[in-house]
Amino acid sequence: MTGKSPHPRRTAERRRPGDPDREELVKRMIRVDQAGEYGAKRIYAGQLAVLGRGSGADAVRKMAEQEERHLAAFDQLIVERRVRPTALQPLWYVTGFALGAATALLGERAAMACTVAVEEVIDEHYARQATALGDDEAALRERIEEFRAHEIEHKETALAHGAEAAPAYPLLSGAIKAASRLAIWLATRI
Ligand SMILES: [Fe+2]
Ligand SMILES: [Fe+2]
Repeated sequence: MTGKSPHPRRTAERRRPGDPDREELVKRMIRVDQAGEYGAKRIYAGQLAVLGRGSGADAVRKMAEQEERHLAAFDQLIVERRVRPTALQPLWYVTGFALGAATALLGERAAMACTVAVEEVIDEHYARQATALGDDEAALRERIEEFRAHEIEHKETALAHGAEAAPAYPLLSGAIKAASRLAIWLATRI
């Protein structure tokens, strides 16, 4: 849906009465994405605090390095676009780390199940954003698509490390997805 259309698409061209305007929409996107990448960094920090060594920990460390680069890009956009950052940063600091540590304490496969659940939600989230951004925001849209490809890779890495064999996988996955969707809702607005 982000491919070439016969005429250039404009960001928020399909907005309805009551929807945020173009500028506010883009600011909200940057706010929630910066918060999300920060949360991802904290989740992996929590996991690494528990996991120690091994092939799982190495995979987590590689994913965490990529999240650092995503976060740096959104930190820069926050400044360039004069976006008010999320007021809930202290909450993401604590809950991100706690989620990572708690799942890793359940075992490496549960930590991987956490990554799969979070990345599935982020994949949908970035896809929705890329669709909403027009050709007037092509650079931002391309960046989001690039990061989305990384998040899909993270999900695949976690699946390859046995995520689906985690104890109570459907329950764990459902709870983390619900929490991630709530976090997105909150960080878009607050
Ligand atoms: Fe990321
Ligand atoms: Fe990721």
